[in-house]
Amino acid sequence: MSSINSKAKITLKTLEALKAKGERFACVTTYDSTFAEIASSAGIEVLLVGDTLGMVIQGHDSTLPVTMQDILYHLEAVKRGNVGSLIMGDMPFMSYYSEGLTLDNAAQLMRAGAHIVKLEGGRWIAESTRLLVERGIPVCAHMGLTPQSINRFGGFRVQGRNPEQAQTILDEAVFLEQAGASLLLLEAIPQQLAERITQRLRIPVIGIGAGRHVDGQIMVMHDLLGITPPDIKVPKFVKNFLATSDNSIRAAFANYARAVKEGSFPGPEHSY
Ligand code: KIV
Repeated sequence: MSSINSKAKITLKTLEALKAKGERFACVTTYDSTFAEIASSAGIEVLLVGDTLGMVIQGHDSTLPVTMQDILYHLEAVKRGNVGSLIMGDMPFMSYYSEGLTLDNAAQLMRAGAHIVKLEGGRWIAESTRLLVERGIPVCAHMGLTPQSINRFGGFRVQGRNPEQAQTILDEAVFLEQAGASLLLLEAIPQQLAERITQRLRIPVIGIGAGRHVDGQIMVMHDLLGITPPDIKVPKFVKNFLATSDNSIRAAFANYARAVKEGSFPGPEHSY
Protein backbone atom coordinates (compact mmCIF):
# COMPACT_ATOMS: atom_id res chain seq x y z
CA MET A 1 0.00 0.00 0.00
CA SER A 2 1.44 3.43 -0.90
CA SER A 3 1.36 6.50 1.29
CA ILE A 4 2.64 10.03 1.07
CA ASN A 5 4.98 11.67 3.51
CA SER A 6 5.88 15.32 3.33
CA LYS A 7 8.96 14.56 1.17
CA ALA A 8 7.56 11.95 -1.22
CA LYS A 9 6.53 13.24 -4.62
CA ILE A 10 3.93 11.39 -6.62
CA THR A 11 4.61 11.36 -10.36
CA LEU A 12 3.03 9.59 -13.31
CA LYS A 13 5.73 6.93 -12.87
CA THR A 14 4.41 6.28 -9.33
CA LEU A 15 0.89 5.71 -10.69
CA GLU A 16 2.18 3.46 -13.49
CA ALA A 17 4.15 1.43 -10.94
CA LEU A 18 1.05 1.07 -8.75
CA LYS A 19 -0.94 -0.19 -11.74
CA ALA A 20 1.82 -2.66 -12.60
CA LYS A 21 1.74 -4.00 -9.02
CA GLY A 22 -2.07 -4.16 -9.00
CA GLU A 23 -2.28 -1.55 -6.22
CA ARG A 24 -5.03 1.07 -6.24
CA PHE A 25 -4.56 4.80 -5.72
CA ALA A 26 -6.83 7.60 -4.53
CA CYS A 27 -7.64 10.96 -6.10
CA VAL A 28 -9.87 13.82 -4.94
CA THR A 29 -10.86 17.26 -6.13
CA THR A 30 -9.50 20.17 -4.08
CA TYR A 31 -9.87 23.86 -4.70
CA ASP A 32 -7.85 25.61 -1.97
CA SER A 33 -4.61 25.31 -0.03
CA THR A 34 -6.15 24.13 3.28
CA PHE A 35 -7.91 21.14 1.76
CA ALA A 36 -4.97 20.44 -0.56
CA GLU A 37 -2.72 20.05 2.50
CA ILE A 38 -5.27 17.84 4.27
CA ALA A 39 -5.84 15.59 1.24
CA SER A 40 -2.19 15.36 0.30
CA SER A 41 -1.11 14.59 3.89
CA ALA A 42 -3.82 11.92 4.05
CA GLY A 43 -2.01 9.91 1.37
CA ILE A 44 -4.19 10.84 -1.59
CA GLU A 45 -2.02 10.53 -4.67
CA VAL A 46 -3.78 12.94 -7.07
CA LEU A 47 -5.43 16.34 -6.43
CA LEU A 48 -7.69 17.50 -9.24
CA VAL A 49 -8.50 21.18 -9.55
CA GLY A 50 -11.66 20.35 -11.43
CA ASP A 51 -14.27 22.42 -13.17
CA THR A 52 -16.77 20.98 -10.66
CA LEU A 53 -15.76 24.13 -8.81
CA GLY A 54 -18.44 25.80 -10.92
CA MET A 55 -21.05 23.76 -9.07
CA VAL A 56 -19.65 23.21 -5.55
CA ILE A 57 -17.83 26.55 -5.10
CA GLN A 58 -19.62 28.98 -7.41
CA GLY A 59 -23.17 27.57 -7.16
CA HIS A 60 -23.84 27.07 -10.87
CA ASP A 61 -25.96 24.15 -12.07
CA SER A 62 -23.28 22.90 -14.46
CA THR A 63 -19.54 23.21 -15.13
CA LEU A 64 -20.03 25.25 -18.30
CA PRO A 65 -19.58 28.75 -16.82
CA VAL A 66 -16.10 27.94 -15.44
CA THR A 67 -13.27 29.93 -17.04
CA MET A 68 -9.50 29.50 -17.29
CA GLN A 69 -9.11 32.32 -14.76
CA ASP A 70 -11.25 30.40 -12.26
CA ILE A 71 -9.18 27.22 -12.63
CA LEU A 72 -5.91 29.16 -12.41
CA TYR A 73 -6.97 30.94 -9.23
CA HIS A 74 -7.82 27.66 -7.47
CA LEU A 75 -4.84 25.81 -8.93
CA GLU A 76 -2.39 28.32 -7.49
CA ALA A 77 -4.00 27.92 -4.06
CA VAL A 78 -3.89 24.11 -4.25
CA LYS A 79 -0.24 24.22 -5.29
CA ARG A 80 0.61 26.17 -2.11
CA GLY A 81 -1.05 23.59 0.16
CA ASN A 82 0.10 20.45 -1.65
CA VAL A 83 2.73 18.33 0.12
CA GLY A 84 3.64 15.84 -2.58
CA SER A 85 0.57 14.75 -4.54
CA LEU A 86 0.31 14.94 -8.32
CA ILE A 87 -1.76 18.00 -9.27
CA MET A 88 -4.14 17.72 -12.22
CA GLY A 89 -5.50 20.91 -13.77
CA ASP A 90 -8.81 20.81 -15.62
CA MET A 91 -9.21 22.41 -19.04
CA PRO A 92 -12.63 24.12 -18.76
CA PHE A 93 -15.40 24.23 -21.36
CA MET A 94 -14.24 25.68 -24.70
CA SER A 95 -10.64 26.14 -23.54
CA TYR A 96 -9.34 23.55 -26.07
CA TYR A 97 -11.31 24.18 -29.25
CA SER A 98 -8.31 25.17 -31.39
CA GLU A 99 -4.65 24.22 -31.46
CA GLY A 100 -3.38 27.62 -30.33
CA LEU A 101 -5.88 27.95 -27.53
CA THR A 102 -5.21 24.41 -26.31
CA LEU A 103 -1.46 24.98 -26.14
CA ASP A 104 -1.71 28.44 -24.52
CA ASN A 105 -4.24 27.32 -21.91
CA ALA A 106 -2.46 24.06 -21.04
CA ALA A 107 0.81 25.98 -20.71
CA GLN A 108 -0.88 28.41 -18.28
CA LEU A 109 -2.09 25.51 -16.14
CA MET A 110 1.39 23.94 -16.07
CA ARG A 111 2.99 27.30 -15.14
CA ALA A 112 0.46 27.69 -12.32
CA GLY A 113 1.37 24.33 -10.79
CA ALA A 114 -0.35 21.50 -12.67
CA HIS A 115 1.66 18.36 -13.40
CA ILE A 116 -0.91 17.09 -15.92
CA VAL A 117 -3.96 18.56 -17.66
CA LYS A 118 -7.36 16.93 -18.12
CA LEU A 119 -9.51 17.21 -21.24
CA GLU A 120 -13.01 15.82 -21.72
CA GLY A 121 -13.84 13.94 -24.90
CA GLY A 122 -13.24 10.88 -27.05
CA ARG A 123 -11.58 10.48 -30.44
CA TRP A 124 -11.90 14.21 -31.16
CA ILE A 125 -9.37 15.15 -28.43
CA ALA A 126 -6.69 12.84 -29.90
CA GLU A 127 -5.10 15.65 -31.94
CA SER A 128 -4.95 17.98 -28.90
CA THR A 129 -3.52 15.11 -26.86
CA ARG A 130 -0.74 14.51 -29.42
CA LEU A 131 0.00 18.20 -29.64
CA LEU A 132 0.34 18.59 -25.85
CA VAL A 133 2.26 15.39 -25.25
CA GLU A 134 4.80 16.20 -27.98
CA ARG A 135 5.47 19.47 -26.15
CA GLY A 136 5.93 17.83 -22.76
CA ILE A 137 2.47 18.33 -21.28
CA PRO A 138 0.93 15.08 -20.02
CA VAL A 139 -2.78 14.53 -20.63
CA CYS A 140 -5.54 12.78 -18.73
CA ALA A 141 -8.48 12.00 -21.05
CA HIS A 142 -11.90 12.15 -19.37
CA MET A 143 -14.53 9.87 -20.97
CA GLY A 144 -17.98 8.44 -20.24
CA LEU A 145 -20.22 11.06 -18.64
CA THR A 146 -18.33 14.19 -19.62
CA PRO A 147 -20.13 17.01 -17.77
CA GLN A 148 -19.14 19.68 -20.31
CA SER A 149 -21.44 17.81 -22.77
CA ILE A 150 -24.54 17.49 -20.56
CA ASN A 151 -26.63 19.47 -23.00
CA ARG A 152 -25.86 16.91 -25.69
CA PHE A 153 -26.55 14.02 -23.30
CA GLY A 154 -29.78 15.62 -22.00
CA GLY A 155 -28.53 15.66 -18.39
CA PHE A 156 -26.15 13.83 -16.06
CA ARG A 157 -26.76 10.34 -17.46
CA VAL A 158 -24.82 7.08 -17.20
CA GLN A 159 -23.00 6.41 -20.49
CA GLY A 160 -22.07 3.16 -22.25
CA ARG A 161 -25.10 1.14 -21.24
CA ASN A 162 -25.81 -0.27 -24.70
CA PRO A 163 -23.28 -2.53 -26.49
CA GLU A 164 -22.54 -0.11 -29.36
CA GLN A 165 -21.97 2.82 -27.05
CA ALA A 166 -19.78 0.63 -24.82
CA GLN A 167 -17.69 -0.51 -27.81
CA THR A 168 -17.25 3.13 -28.93
CA ILE A 169 -16.00 4.13 -25.47
CA LEU A 170 -13.56 1.19 -25.42
CA ASP A 171 -12.28 1.91 -28.96
CA GLU A 172 -11.86 5.62 -28.25
CA ALA A 173 -10.03 4.92 -24.98
CA VAL A 174 -7.54 2.74 -26.88
CA PHE A 175 -7.22 5.48 -29.52
CA LEU A 176 -6.45 8.11 -26.86
CA GLU A 177 -3.86 5.90 -25.22
CA GLN A 178 -2.22 5.52 -28.65
CA ALA A 179 -2.37 9.31 -29.06
CA GLY A 180 -0.24 9.60 -25.92
CA ALA A 181 -2.66 10.11 -23.00
CA SER A 182 -0.97 9.24 -19.69
CA LEU A 183 -4.15 8.70 -17.67
CA LEU A 184 -7.80 7.98 -18.42
CA LEU A 185 -10.68 9.11 -16.19
CA LEU A 186 -13.97 7.23 -16.64
CA GLU A 187 -17.12 8.81 -15.20
CA ALA A 188 -20.51 7.09 -14.70
CA ILE A 189 -20.23 4.00 -16.86
CA PRO A 190 -21.15 0.37 -16.10
CA GLN A 191 -18.50 -1.34 -13.98
CA GLN A 192 -18.01 -4.24 -16.44
CA LEU A 193 -17.12 -1.76 -19.18
CA ALA A 194 -14.67 0.09 -16.91
CA GLU A 195 -13.06 -3.24 -16.00
CA ARG A 196 -12.63 -4.20 -19.69
CA ILE A 197 -11.05 -0.82 -20.46
CA THR A 198 -8.73 -1.00 -17.42
CA GLN A 199 -7.52 -4.47 -18.42
CA ARG A 200 -7.03 -3.41 -22.02
CA LEU A 201 -5.03 -0.20 -21.39
CA ARG A 202 -1.45 0.07 -20.16
CA ILE A 203 -2.05 3.55 -18.70
CA PRO A 204 -3.67 3.93 -15.26
CA VAL A 205 -7.45 4.29 -15.33
CA ILE A 206 -9.26 6.40 -12.71
CA GLY A 207 -12.95 5.90 -12.06
CA ILE A 208 -15.84 7.86 -10.58
CA GLY A 209 -19.08 5.92 -10.74
CA ALA A 210 -17.21 3.27 -12.75
CA GLY A 211 -17.00 0.50 -10.15
CA ARG A 212 -14.04 -0.88 -8.27
CA HIS A 213 -12.16 -2.69 -11.07
CA VAL A 214 -10.15 0.36 -12.11
CA ASP A 215 -6.69 1.49 -11.00
CA GLY A 216 -7.69 4.59 -9.04
CA GLN A 217 -10.80 6.31 -7.71
CA ILE A 218 -11.68 9.98 -7.65
CA MET A 219 -14.32 11.82 -5.64
CA VAL A 220 -15.46 15.42 -5.41
CA MET A 221 -14.33 16.57 -1.94
CA HIS A 222 -17.75 18.01 -1.05
CA ASP A 223 -19.32 14.58 -1.71
CA LEU A 224 -16.68 12.85 0.43
CA LEU A 225 -17.53 15.24 3.30
CA GLY A 226 -21.30 14.99 2.81
CA ILE A 227 -21.64 18.72 2.13
CA THR A 228 -22.79 18.59 -1.51
CA PRO A 229 -24.92 21.72 -2.09
CA PRO A 230 -28.63 20.79 -1.60
CA ASP A 231 -29.66 21.70 -5.16
CA ILE A 232 -27.22 19.12 -6.63
CA LYS A 233 -28.58 15.57 -6.87
CA VAL A 234 -26.12 13.31 -5.02
CA PRO A 235 -25.20 10.49 -7.40
CA LYS A 236 -25.30 6.84 -6.37
CA PHE A 237 -21.49 6.55 -6.46
CA VAL A 238 -21.00 9.04 -3.62
CA LYS A 239 -20.12 8.06 -0.06
CA ASN A 240 -20.03 10.44 2.90
CA PHE A 241 -16.78 9.53 4.69
CA LEU A 242 -17.16 12.28 7.32
CA ALA A 243 -20.20 10.49 8.76
CA THR A 244 -18.05 7.48 9.68
CA SER A 245 -14.95 9.46 10.74
CA ASP A 246 -15.99 10.97 14.07
CA ASN A 247 -16.62 14.28 12.34
CA SER A 248 -12.88 14.69 11.71
CA ILE A 249 -12.19 16.09 8.25
CA ARG A 250 -8.59 14.78 8.27
CA ALA A 251 -9.83 11.31 9.23
CA ALA A 252 -12.49 11.42 6.48
CA PHE A 253 -9.84 12.02 3.78
CA ALA A 254 -7.56 9.34 5.29
CA ASN A 255 -10.43 6.84 5.53
CA TYR A 256 -11.38 7.51 1.92
CA ALA A 257 -7.78 6.89 0.81
CA ARG A 258 -7.61 3.70 2.89
CA ALA A 259 -10.96 2.40 1.59
CA VAL A 260 -9.88 2.93 -2.02
CA LYS A 261 -6.52 1.26 -1.52
CA GLU A 262 -7.89 -1.77 0.32
CA GLY A 263 -10.72 -2.07 -2.23
CA SER A 264 -13.67 -1.61 0.14
CA PHE A 265 -14.82 1.52 -1.73
CA PRO A 266 -16.64 1.69 -4.06
CA GLY A 267 -18.97 -1.19 -3.23
CA PRO A 268 -21.64 -2.68 -5.51
CA GLU A 269 -24.15 -0.13 -4.14
CA HIS A 270 -21.99 2.68 -5.60
CA SER A 271 -21.68 1.09 -9.06
CA TYR A 272 -23.74 0.77 -12.26
O1 KIV B 1 -13.96 18.38 -12.82
C1 KIV B 1 -14.07 17.55 -11.94
O2 KIV B 1 -14.06 17.88 -10.77
C2 KIV B 1 -14.18 16.15 -12.31
C3 KIV B 1 -14.66 15.19 -11.29
C4 KIV B 1 -16.08 14.87 -11.51
C5 KIV B 1 -13.83 13.96 -11.28
O3 KIV B 1 -13.93 15.81 -13.42
